[in-house]
Parts: sequence; C-alpha cells; structure tokens
Amino acid sequence: MSRPSQARAPGKVILLGEHSVVYGQPALALPLDRGVTVRCEPAAALRLKSVPAAGAHAMQEATEQVAAQLGNPLVEITIDSDIPLSAGLGSSAAVAVALTRALAASAGRTLPDDELLRLAEGMEQTFHGRPSGIDHTTCALAAPLRFVRGPPHQVTRLSVKKLEWVVALSGPRQGTKEKVLGLRQAWEREPERIGAKFAAIGQIVEAGQAALLAGDERELGRLFDANQAILAELGLTTPAIDALLAQMRGLGAYGAKLTGAGGGGAVIALHPEPAKLVRALEQAGVRAFAARWEEP
Ligand code: PMV
Repeated sequence: MSRPSQARAPGKVILLGEHSVVYGQPALALPLDRGVTVRCEPAAALRLKSVPAAGAHAMQEATEQVAAQLGNPLVEITIDSDIPLSAGLGSSAAVAVALTRALAASAGRTLPDDELLRLAEGMEQTFHGRPSGIDHTTCALAAPLRFVRGPPHQVTRLSVKKLEWVVALSGPRQGTKEKVLGLRQAWEREPERIGAKFAAIGQIVEAGQAALLAGDERELGRLFDANQAILAELGLTTPAIDALLAQMRGLGAYGAKLTGAGGGGAVIALHPEPAKLVRALEQAGVRAFAARWEEP
C-alpha cells in the first residue's frame, strides 16, 4: 500500500568555486531559504501531475528510476517550487531531493543521508549528465558546505552563524550541461592554461572559507569579485551579467558574482543593507530578493 506523503528541500547558491569544482577544486555552497515541496497521493499508477521545470521527459525517466529503487510506490506526484527555474539556484537538485524523500515516505521508508544522496545524485545525472554533486548535496544536507568532488565526495559542514546576501536575475541562460561541456572542450584544448585558472579559483575558495567562518563579509565580497574575474576569463559571463554586477557594486555591494553555471541566470552580492539593495534593483526593473542563512 502506498501512503500519502510530503517532503521539502531547499535550493542552493554556490558562493565560490562553480565549474572548478567539477575538476576537483573545493567550492562553498549555502542552502537557499526557498525550496521545492513534493506531495504524493496514492493512485493507480506512478504519475507526475505537475512539473514546474522544462524537461518533463527527463523528469519522468528520473522519477521512474528512483521509484523502482524504492519498491515502486504508486502515487500521483505534485511538485511546487518557489525557486526561480533554470537560474543556477538548484531547482532541479531540490526536486531530486524532495522527490526522493517523498517517494521513500510513500513506500513507508525514511532514508538515511547516504542513501538519499546516492538516489538524488542518480536523478541529477539523468537531468545533467555528470554534475559534480555539490547541488544535490547542499539541498539534501541543508547546511553551509565545503565540497570537494569524489568519489567519495569530501563534504564538510561549515559553522556559519548567519549570512544575508542578495540574489538577482540577469535573464535567461543555456543549460548547465552545455556550459560544463563548453568549458571541458576548452580545458581539453589547453589543459595547463585553463587548469591554472581552476587552481586560482581553488585558492580563492580557501580564503573565502576563512572569511565566511570569520563573518568577514567585506573580504568575502572582495573574493566574489576575484572569482567573477576568473569566471569572466573562462567565458562564463555575459554583458547582461556584467552590467548587473556593475550596478550592484555601484549601489554599494562589497562584491558580486554569477552563481551556478553562468551564461545568464542568477548573480549574488554581499551588501551592508541587503533589503536596500533589493529595493534599488527592483526600482530599476531587476528581479531580486534577499536570502539568508541562520544556524538553527
Ligand atoms: O547552474 P547550476 O545550479 O546547475 O550549478 C552548476 C554548478 C557547476 O559547477 C557549474 C556544475 C557542477 O556540476 O558542479
């Protein structure tokens, strides 16, 4: 008998280290205070009732694969999300985690973290090919993390008391898969030059971890700018992102960068008064919101 169930998972932001994390460098990520809720109702067959994201086919395939590993609960699934979609904010990873939890609950199981992470990673692979794993790990553990790709991944929970930051949307973007593939081709052509840039981002992440743990937002902002400069050299920024980052810095941000795969999508900034920056951006017609993490 399949049971009704409900599960939620947060989105995520990568503070520092996207892309280089695919090549074994460390990265820092935080959960977002927005997320995905999945509801399952017993039904005659496994069925996705509403899917917020594009890629319904991959979603159906991934859902069937996970359900098969959880004893095939027969449920109708509703997915609701308040994470901007395809923006680099972890909407697909949050779906993977919440859906895995909900299907397990419908099958009468509570998953330990390692099994949840393994199943959600499988779903993310169906969506994105070979992701580093930072997205679904942050969404599943719902904590500030330092992440180094494995196998096995090295995941360290960071004790961050509180952080507020601003997320703004620069416009539509290509998929993560395309951006990761484009960079891989560049790296295969010039492994030393591109590899040195990844290593430089790794150094920025180390300094960023110290700043994050010390609560030094000014220094962390400076490191956002340094990371962004290298992401720009790697061809991951756009004129729209650059204009938005300049606008945020002009409005007093300590620093700003793209987050996630780039080529459009979300950017993040640190600012002494996040709500004030959000208001100024909204007045200029930019979609923006303040996000916060506080240690439970
Ligand atoms: O844009 P997103 O949320 O899919 O983030 C991708 C992060 C990358 O480092 C670019 C890819 C990865 O697999 O880690």
